[in-house]
Amino acid sequence: MALILGLESSCDDTAAALVTGERRILAQAVVSQNDAHRPFGGVVPEIAARAHVQILPDLVRRVLGEAKIDVGNVDAIAATAGPGLIGGVMVALLTAKGLALAIRKPLIAVNHLEAHALSPRLVDPHLDFPYLLLLVSGGHCQLLEVLGVGDYRRLATTIDDAAGEAFDKAAKLLGLPFPGGPAIELLARDGNPAAVPLPRPLVGSGEPHFSFAGLKSAVQRAVASDTFTPADIAASFQQAVVDCLVDRTRIALESSDAPALVVAGGVAANQAIRDALEQLASESGRRFSVPPAWLCTDNAAMIAWAGIERFDAGKLDDLSAPARARWPLDPHAEKVRGAGVKA
Ligand code: KG4
Ligand code: ZN
Repeated sequence: MALILGLESSCDDTAAALVTGERRILAQAVVSQNDAHRPFGGVVPEIAARAHVQILPDLVRRVLGEAKIDVGNVDAIAATAGPGLIGGVMVALLTAKGLALAIRKPLIAVNHLEAHALSPRLVDPHLDFPYLLLLVSGGHCQLLEVLGVGDYRRLATTIDDAAGEAFDKAAKLLGLPFPGGPAIELLARDGNPAAVPLPRPLVGSGEPHFSFAGLKSAVQRAVASDTFTPADIAASFQQAVVDCLVDRTRIALESSDAPALVVAGGVAANQAIRDALEQLASESGRRFSVPPAWLCTDNAAMIAWAGIERFDAGKLDDLSAPARARWPLDPHAEKVRGAGVKA
């Protein structure tokens, strides 16, 4: 059984983990840089890259020490090679290349989106291919058929903002701290989800894609009107996102034979979203799988697990593997209106 060291530094979390082919996480560590970015209300790429350089080597030492594993005994080094903030991506990728070179073991250049996509299989051994995946993170909002390792068919993407981006922007408008998703979820507990009339962009249109920009503008107007409490705005916003995600996913389920519905990515940590999609899966007779919240937000256990899946499939990389700011899971997906920037 393979033993893989996974490294992650593509956004604002620095992480390392050791995972085995038997789905055992021997050790893992994540250092979030939230405090460093909070004064700016979002991730500052330059600050993130510099912080990864300082933090990552110590995390590698820490997980190897905790697991009492000599680095020479791992079977491969896996690292996110994109998509993400390029300065940050280079830190884990180059660290992995250095380690792979030193111990003469293969490098596995992991697509961060593939790591989110395969993450449910780390904790759910009975989740087989194919499955329909709602991938919702800070940078992406997509519906994909996961047909196998490295084999994806994109059914829908966002034409403007990603779901996590919408949470972060709405939170900023409400004066909540970064990252916005957890802050909105907490505040929404005290609010009425029906209090503020907000749009559900594209719902009822038959269009498969997502859009959240209009929702953000409506939150801006609701805040400016001084008519509603922040808790009511947060709860109503969260409900609008839930309704959009459920509606688009229902359309995708109609065009897919996949027996399971899976949700992954940072926004999948949201309990209201998890509950609504579980309900949708049960209504449409599909098996439902969602990783625990800690595995939804960025971490290195999912990178190491994607490494295991690729290692077992013989998909290894050489030391010239590039760092990629953009790296679509489905290279054949059609471009959609407005999606050139995100997809
Ligand atoms: O997957 P992730 O950790 O990083 C990316 O690959 O983008 O996702 C981060 C995003 C952020 O936009 C954050 O606000 C959102 O996930 N998020 C949440 C929650 N936890 C994190 N959104 C809604 N509810 C949450 N509980
Ligand atoms: Zn992510």
